[in-house]
Amino acid sequence: MKKILASILASAMVFSLSACGSSAPAESSNAAPAASTAPAASAAPADESGSPSTVAGGGKIGVSMPTQSLQRWNQDGTNMKAELEAAGYEVDLQYAGDNDIPTQVSQLENMISSGCDALVVASIDGSALTEVLKGAKDAGIPVIAYDRLIMNSDAVSYYATFDNYKVGTIQGNYIKDALDLDNAEGPFNIELFTGAPDDNNVNFFFGGAMDVLNPYIESGKLVVLSGQTEKAQCATPNWSAEESQKRMENLITSNGYGPEGTRLDAVLCSNDSTAYGVQNALIAAGYTPENMPIITGQDCDKPNVKNIVAGYQDMSVFKDTRTLASQVVKMVDAVMQGSEPEINDTETYDNGTGVIPSYLCDPVVCTVDNYKELLIDSGYYTEADVA
Ligand code: BGC
Repeated sequence: MKKILASILASAMVFSLSACGSSAPAESSNAAPAASTAPAASAAPADESGSPSTVAGGGKIGVSMPTQSLQRWNQDGTNMKAELEAAGYEVDLQYAGDNDIPTQVSQLENMISSGCDALVVASIDGSALTEVLKGAKDAGIPVIAYDRLIMNSDAVSYYATFDNYKVGTIQGNYIKDALDLDNAEGPFNIELFTGAPDDNNVNFFFGGAMDVLNPYIESGKLVVLSGQTEKAQCATPNWSAEESQKRMENLITSNGYGPEGTRLDAVLCSNDSTAYGVQNALIAAGYTPENMPIITGQDCDKPNVKNIVAGYQDMSVFKDTRTLASQVVKMVDAVMQGSEPEINDTETYDNGTGVIPSYLCDPVVCTVDNYKELLIDSGYYTEADVA
């Protein structure tokens, strides 16, 4: 027994030593984490006001998530299920394969026909659910759009998300400050990456960032050598790290970027998976933590936080998925009890059928200087998660 224990300990030490010794970038931002790696919903009741949620329910709630291939949706799903169950609801939680739109549609059809009392939906393509949600409306089932607005559907009662425009301005301002665009002479070279064109959030992420950066592009202080500045040119299908890596590789080749070649000062990336692909391409081209361009991100995915610590990425935007889940559970509860949920925005999110009353949670910049306080002290991750 002792022998077995000793050998387990020895191999654990070898593993942790090699993990510590390695300065290689963290692996895959797209890998699905084990379910147990999602932050515990119970770690913090995550009411923005700090007070524990006092909801009490009864009924079945359908929760439709887009994919398990990105860490955040696993966290969102796990948190929602745990909090809804703690509030007394039965939960039908479904992931739509890997961003498969027909799967999401048929899962929603099932939720409607199997008697769900309310639906919480993080859409893949915001405009692809109009038909299926007519069924929800006809059956009197309220729909809450989760994180991403569902477009062109009057079945959507409420929307809960983060302040997506602010996410974009945080990223734009980070680049502006890091390059000291108001004072430095420049010009600086930048390339731009955003997310899935069918995700309404992209309009806000990219729009917010470009509202900060555009004046400098217009004045010539920032130069986009590829000339690709339109949302459609900078989009990344399905937010895929492979896609952003491919596009960055092409940009490197066509513009001669490299540590010994054309200088690249910054890459705007709308989230961590796109940032991850960009980093892979840059590392393969010879960049190191010492000469990496400034790279932004969003979500504080574990591999990206590791890369922030290692110097391959400069910042991410922390969106505490526990906060969003708690807010949505309170929304569900209010809707189920026929009362008005808490909302804090009645202007920003028009889905084509009118403005959807929304609750916007607050996103926060995360860097090497504050990640411990934000992510570890708050119980979101353990030290080992991002070591
Ligand atoms: C979410 C981001 C996420 C992205 C890719 C967006 O709609 O708001 O947090 O990184 O989708 O999943």
